[in-house]
Amino acid sequence: MVGMRLLVLAAALMPSVLVSAKDWKTCSESSHCVRNRAIADSGSAATSPYAVDSSIDFDQESGEITGKIGNSASKTKLSFKLTFLTNDAARIIIDEHDGLHNRYHEAPKFAFHRALPVTSDVKREDSSNTITFSHGLNEVVIQKQPFAIKGRRNGKEVINVNGNGWFNFEQYRKKRPDEDWSESLLVDDWLNKRDFTWIDTRPKGPASVAADITFPGFEHVYGIPEHATSLNLKTTRGPGAAYTEPFRFWNTDTYNYTTNVTTANYGAIPFMVAAKPGSAAGVMWLNPSEAWIDIYRKEGSTTSHWMSESGLVDLLFFWGNDALEVSRNFGILTGSQELPQRFSLGYHQCRYSYLTETEALEVDAGFDEYKIPYDTLWLDIDVTQGKRYFTWNYTAFPTPVRMQDILAAKGRKMVTIKDPHLAVDENYKVYTQALEQDLLIKFANGSTYEGQCWPTNIPVEQGKTLAVWPDYTKPEMMKFWAEQYKYENYENQTKILWTWNDMNEPAVFGGPDKSAPRDTLHYGDVEHRDVHNLYGALMIQASYEGHLLRDDHALRPFILTRAFFAGSQRYGAMWMGDSGSTWEHLQVASPTIQSLALSGFQFTGGDIGGFIGSPDGELLTRWYYSAIFTGFYRGHSDLGSPRREPWVRGEPYTSYIREAIRTRYTLLPFIYTSFWNNYVSPEPIVRPMFAAFPNDPKTLDMEEQYFFGRELMVKPITSPNVTETSIYLPDAEPYYNIFTWEKLQGQGEHTVAAGLNGLPAFIRGGSVVPTKHGVATGSSKTQESLPLDLVAVLSAEGSASGSMYHDDGESFSNQKGKFIWKQFIVKSDKITSRDMLAGKNNVHTNGAGDIPFSPYNAFQKWSPLKVKYITLLGAKAIKSATLNVKSKNGCHPAKEVKIIVDGCKTKLEVNVRLGDDWDVVLHY
Ligand code: NOJ
Repeated sequence: MVGMRLLVLAAALMPSVLVSAKDWKTCSESSHCVRNRAIADSGSAATSPYAVDSSIDFDQESGEITGKIGNSASKTKLSFKLTFLTNDAARIIIDEHDGLHNRYHEAPKFAFHRALPVTSDVKREDSSNTITFSHGLNEVVIQKQPFAIKGRRNGKEVINVNGNGWFNFEQYRKKRPDEDWSESLLVDDWLNKRDFTWIDTRPKGPASVAADITFPGFEHVYGIPEHATSLNLKTTRGPGAAYTEPFRFWNTDTYNYTTNVTTANYGAIPFMVAAKPGSAAGVMWLNPSEAWIDIYRKEGSTTSHWMSESGLVDLLFFWGNDALEVSRNFGILTGSQELPQRFSLGYHQCRYSYLTETEALEVDAGFDEYKIPYDTLWLDIDVTQGKRYFTWNYTAFPTPVRMQDILAAKGRKMVTIKDPHLAVDENYKVYTQALEQDLLIKFANGSTYEGQCWPTNIPVEQGKTLAVWPDYTKPEMMKFWAEQYKYENYENQTKILWTWNDMNEPAVFGGPDKSAPRDTLHYGDVEHRDVHNLYGALMIQASYEGHLLRDDHALRPFILTRAFFAGSQRYGAMWMGDSGSTWEHLQVASPTIQSLALSGFQFTGGDIGGFIGSPDGELLTRWYYSAIFTGFYRGHSDLGSPRREPWVRGEPYTSYIREAIRTRYTLLPFIYTSFWNNYVSPEPIVRPMFAAFPNDPKTLDMEEQYFFGRELMVKPITSPNVTETSIYLPDAEPYYNIFTWEKLQGQGEHTVAAGLNGLPAFIRGGSVVPTKHGVATGSSKTQESLPLDLVAVLSAEGSASGSMYHDDGESFSNQKGKFIWKQFIVKSDKITSRDMLAGKNNVHTNGAGDIPFSPYNAFQKWSPLKVKYITLLGAKAIKSATLNVKSKNGCHPAKEVKIIVDGCKTKLEVNVRLGDDWDVVLHY
């Protein structure tokens, strides 16, 4: 008997889960995932202990609906608040009522870019077990017993929370004497070649929150980036599940990540969209702690089961007629993609690492020698003095200003890396000052948290330099970090120098779960577990603010990040981290960028060629072509990978790659305009087929083909030895291949040639695409004076329309209305160009606030940019054409336009200023 008791006691004192996280943590190794999956296995709506108290308050002035949810098992209470937002959204926050500890609730400050547009225009209707609140077409039904929340649109249920009864809110409580809340993790400390057991003390005990969210009648759900898997999220549980592990959110340094898996990657946007012809809905689970998401499919519906380690239930519903609208409604709250500087949409050349100034300048010169345009040269960690960021390794880079000036003279820019870890070194002032000012993450016992990362050096010498991590949740740290970018702090930078924030998950070599321990402490004694997925996002916000400080708010910052959270798009670009040079990694890039775009992030891309390995000429060429149609266009390679700048593979690849990069530059006016369209709307730039053609059920499973902007449809070639491929045309419009100008028409499947020197990329009939005319060399700056060619593909009915946005490409003067925004309309008798904002004094943007606009502003008046050609595809033979310019400066005599027939193209040589209004009258 005594022995028995001892055994029980020993079991109670054992950490609750003993896991091995040598590779990636699995659900069975995470106690909150295990507990919540167990509820999913046994729980049902009938057994859910949660019920809503009958008194629900509705404050008609503020629009706030509040009440309590009781738990019949624990006899505790939760409080909830429901609000409707004017942008087809509603928000439900569930917190502890009189909880033992506060739950982390600061994530919305980052995720949302403005105060939420709460409306009080809400109607209430009570029945015995439900209360229905409605605003316009949208309704939220609160079911009291058992507790459930349903989202309806047009009277149809599209979202159902706790319909399965898996809602679980582990409230903070006092520890029972026989309990051990700690959790242990077997850590693979590869740097020091040892494994050890890490004990997470979990001083506050279990605190997970979970809920099942069903999309009734929807078989397709998308989103929750970043995962290296299919666009349409496959099942992780239930009969015939495609995966066994739930999707995981735990921002992680995933070197050479595996594809077609649900494991966590570098960033987390907890936003999911369900779509089917005629209907769509979305949810945001706003919680930055570790999350697991199971996907079930049953009887034509999809259930997602969200399980977070701690924090609040902060849930948003998004309604809309289709996925684009739902995505836009999400973007209205989390913000548009920052409008990039034009240079940053050009080509970037990176490598880990260009080791000396001479090497870097040789690479720069290579682009001129091979007549390949590019804009930005990147310097990785070896540019620093011993991985101390904001310093230069002067032995290898003796004259950094001279180096930057050489690039600047060609209109080019430079980027240097700044990681968050700070070397523990008395001579490194960023470290000493941050320590002195108490701005660093701490161990649970209050001492400064120290771990290993790049400053530790590889191969490691035991006992070498450790690192500490900034606590960006502390406002003083945000300010301190921003100030490091000032010219006086980061010496020898010039204004063409921009920033790359890497390892900001944060990555800790040999750390538990590859990061800072969960029980380390942030500002206000918040545990790292509560904020982990927000860490990188806060870092880039501080970096963004730093660049603003540096240049006195004159220039739009350029920041690249690896880790991110919802809302990070407001501060820069992301890339997909350490891919391999494999066809699988090229393939998975397409669904990933589509998922990111739906979730608000447009400025995205992967390392061209893959980071690790050595792509052969074919793979590298395919990668250069497919990446043209992503937001961020950068070649990068690992330390151990052989060099592979665009000319290294030799012919025919150099010529093919040159053509790919030049095509990117030819398309820059179109790409920049697409970013502007996102900035004002904010609708995705990259559009999955189901988002572009929401009523076509065939598009729901497509992920290889997608739209880039409103006008281009592309299909990257992502397997070897391909000479032809099949393209699905969703409508009866003509589509013209931008590399061959071949026409494709007829709804359905088509087989097309897919040679290595091009890509199936088509302009859809009915579109006008602004492009640059002339041979693109140098940089986007040196190409500024190249005139435009407006490529118009006539629709099946013979018309087309499009737009072009243009500004100085770098400053915030566009916020003061200094830009040109033209709309082009092509009809059978006439082509017109008019101010998009004719008669308006401001631009209403849905994601970025309103911008004042003055028609014919100084930029528009003086911009020398000209439209040289209008190229028509699909036009009848035109006999003559006359140009009438309506410049605000006065009247111009009508001019006969030269017509050049070039194969299937009819080129009208107009030579007219982009800033002016004009018509071209066509005669047949
Ligand atoms: C990891 C990043 O993913 C990679 O792109 C970079 O080159 C290395 N860190 C070194 O900084």
